[in-house]
Formats: sequence, C-alpha cells, structure tokens
Amino acid sequence: MDTDLTFHADLAALAWQLELGADLAVGETPVNRYEAVAVGTPAAPPLAAARPAAVAPAPVAGPDSTAAVRAATQAAAQAPSLEALRGALAAFEHCELKRGAKSLVFADGLPGAQVMVVGEAPGRDEDLAGRPFVGRAGQLLDRMFAAIGLSRTAMDPALALYITNVMVWRPPQNRDPTPEEVAMLLPFLQRHIALAGPKVIVVMGNTPLSALLGIRGITRLRGQWAEALGKPVLPMVHPAYLLRTPAAKREAWADLLSLKAHLRTRS
Ligand code: URA
Repeated sequence: MDTDLTFHADLAALAWQLELGADLAVGETPVNRYEAVAVGTPAAPPLAAARPAAVAPAPVAGPDSTAAVRAATQAAAQAPSLEALRGALAAFEHCELKRGAKSLVFADGLPGAQVMVVGEAPGRDEDLAGRPFVGRAGQLLDRMFAAIGLSRTAMDPALALYITNVMVWRPPQNRDPTPEEVAMLLPFLQRHIALAGPKVIVVMGNTPLSALLGIRGITRLRGQWAEALGKPVLPMVHPAYLLRTPAAKREAWADLLSLKAHLRTRS
C-alpha cells in the first residue's frame, strides 16, 4: 500500500472503532488485532464441515414457478458476460417484483474484485439510484469494509469490492422476498458469481445465506466460513441489523478481521 492509501485505510479503521463506541486509547503499545485473529483466536468450527452439501437446494416452488426457474436457468446459462447477464435479467418477465420496481439493481463496484458481497434486496434508495447498498445500511457497509482497506470504488482487485443482491428488484414495502422469488432469481445469482469470479463471497443477512447455503440463522452462523459454488463464503449480519443493534458491531468487526486474515493468508 502506498502512504496515501495507508493513511486512508487507517482513517477508516479509526472511524470504524468510533462507530463501535471506542473513545479511549488504552495501552502504551498497539496490539495487532489482525494477528490476534490469525494466530490467537480459536477458529470457529467450519460451517461447511458440519453440513453435507456445499450448495443449497433451491427453495420449494409451485408449478408456475418451476417453469420460471427453468426459464431463469436457461437464460442465465446462456449469458457469456456480466453485461449479457444484466440484459437477460432485463428481459426476464417471470418475476412480479419487476412490475413494481423502478430499476433493475444489478451490481456496483469492480467486477473481478477478490471480495464479492451479496445482500438481500434493493430498498427504496437503491431502487431510485439503480445501485445496490446506497442508503443508510449501504453507507455503513462502505465504512465497515473501508476499515479493512476494501472499497467499491477501488480499481485494484485486491482492494476492491463487487456488490450485488439476491433480488435485483425491490420487493414492495421492503418485505422479505418469498422462497419462490428467491428460487427464480437464484440461477442468475449463481451465474453472476461465476462471471464476476471473486475469491471470497460475503453473504450479508439470511436471504443470501439461505439462497447460497440452504440454511437460515445468520446471527448464529455469522463468522463461520462455509463453501458455495466452490468458493469460501463468510456469513455476516446485515448492516441494517447493525443499525438497529449496535451491540452486534463488535462481532461484525471480528468477522471483518477474519476476512482480512483470510485474504492475507491466501493471496
Ligand atoms: N439492503 C440490501 O440487502 N441490499 C441493498 O442493496 C440495500 C439494502
């Protein structure tokens, strides 16, 4: 990292510490928490090891949605590039959410970034902007990742983020997407991940956790590395949850350090 980048990364890490409520410097010498995680902290039992299959079974779907899943699988498989995949989604007429949404919210950040973040669904701000995670939760997400030196505006894949959601259209009143809606868009998400080619996937919240790993219980499973589509997956709580539950920020910081350590040891 050059000096300027180090300065900004340090500043972001400090901002995150303030976010956690730190208001006092303690101790004469700094403690390297990255190393503390890599060496000292016992690793959580790997989620993947505790479970038989890496990739989720698609959620249950009725006869109509079975046809929709088939159409989605075919359309996604035929997309040779991210641009083509966006076009395939724009042409996909099986998802009712599309009719109520202003925008198709596809992705933001750098395709090819080492880290791909998968959130739940666009909210009002994202629907208006046409980009994922731009509201309050998105701003917190940016501060969180900036604290470990990652950003959606970085041009270096090692420092960049690529961000998408399970759902590309906003559900009305920000309700949770139904299992049928998730199943319908899952082939597009799987193809999206294959085309973006991240080294690591961070799933934020229950919707992407259940879409990619077939399980729910994000507050219990956060921080436990798993595997989906042949890639390491780190489950984290959603930033909107952190806005409502500031006490959970401490664990989110531990998860960010675990991600940082993972990237360091495997690059
Ligand atoms: N929450 C999400 O999961 N995704 C967004 O894009 C915005 C809020």
